[in-house]
Amino acid sequence: MHRISIDVPGAAHEVTVGFHLANLAAQALRRLAASRPIMVVSDSVGAGRHIDPLIEALKSAGVSAAVHLVPAGEAAKELGVLSTIYGALADDGIDREGVLVSLGGGCVGDVAGFAAATWMRGIRHVQMPTTLLAMVDSSIGGKTAINLPAGKNLVGAVHQPVAIFSDLEYLETLADAEFRSGLAEITKVALVADRSFVDWLSVNLVALLGRDKPAMLEAVRRAVAIKAGVVSRDPHETGERAILNYGHTVGHALERAAGFGRLRHGEAVAWGMEVAGRLSLSSGAGTPEAVRTQHALLQRAGLLANRPEVTRADLWQALRHDKKSQAGALRFVLLREIGRADYGCEVDPNLVWDTLAKVLSL
Ligand SMILES: NC(=O)c1ccc[n+]([C@@H]2O[C@H](COP(=O)([O-])OP(=O)(O)OC[C@H]3O[C@@H](n4cnc5c(N)ncnc54)[C@H](O)[C@@H]3O)[C@@H](O)[C@H]2O)c1
Ligand SMILES: [Zn+2]
Repeated sequence: MHRISIDVPGAAHEVTVGFHLANLAAQALRRLAASRPIMVVSDSVGAGRHIDPLIEALKSAGVSAAVHLVPAGEAAKELGVLSTIYGALADDGIDREGVLVSLGGGCVGDVAGFAAATWMRGIRHVQMPTTLLAMVDSSIGGKTAINLPAGKNLVGAVHQPVAIFSDLEYLETLADAEFRSGLAEITKVALVADRSFVDWLSVNLVALLGRDKPAMLEAVRRAVAIKAGVVSRDPHETGERAILNYGHTVGHALERAAGFGRLRHGEAVAWGMEVAGRLSLSSGAGTPEAVRTQHALLQRAGLLANRPEVTRADLWQALRHDKKSQAGALRFVLLREIGRADYGCEVDPNLVWDTLAKVLSL
């Protein structure tokens, strides 16, 4: 088991990464001394199967809990679903001393986290991620959001959780495609920040894909540690934290153009990284070695098997909507070399289109 601290000023907390953490989490939840039952939000299909052991552990620890289920996947991140969470919080009389636990992937964490951020102007939130992606990425950093028809993650808040418990045991039931989606974010964080982690991944990818326990523990520990460091130094993304958006300018646009929920977040990000990697090279910023290494890792992880089915027009429109594109210019995070990236780089739109056409066969 590992404990990694996230030293956000005024909101320091810890991530616990390990196996069979339900009892440990229950004890920590007991110490939070919530005024009312703890509200556990989960989804009804995937993550939901892990609720019972957690509720049992809470019972043994003498903590009462209420459960509220939301739809699985991106369908959870909607205004209507958010409003059902508010309804449940109201029904259970959760006040400012309340605690909300998100047990689920990034979608549950995002919508329930936003509910926690806004209920009575903010109650305590504990993240219990159940997907690889949520463990290494979305549970860390305090970003919460829902989608609107006009765009993904358009309404949100930064609200740091008080604790994060990443129980790798949950990953046993995760579908292969979801597991690979998490590998995209792991590959991303290694490429932008830590060359030795990229080397480790190149050697250990087969073990990781086979869900070897020590390999999963090491990969999640390292990815969490990198994100924790970046978030601690720049909690509000006024600078360095933007490197974590590598692959996301095109990734988000692909998710939107394909229709929310059609393409997994990590799959979209993997294609976005392919585009950003080539742009790094063609705009003179990157190295062929970095792009080759990235391509090999994504390919071996099975993330480039199916090209997203989107039209040029839809993708263009989606890119214009992206928060990172401003008045004509498209901004990218570019890879300088393995383990180092720059953010806020303006790239010639013609070059972007040529690259998109090549990478995505548009
Ligand atoms: N807040 C952030 O900083 C941040 C960062 C990255 C991504 N995100 C968001 O996260 C979302 C994607 O999250 P995700 O990839 O975790 O997807 P997800 O939450 O949709 O989960 C994927 C699927 O796996 C199922 N599932 C979850 N845990 C399971 C388990 N243990 N066993 C079996 N099935 C399980 C879910 O029911 C769902 O069908 C996107 O909306 C993305 O925008 C947020
Ligand atoms: Zn992401």
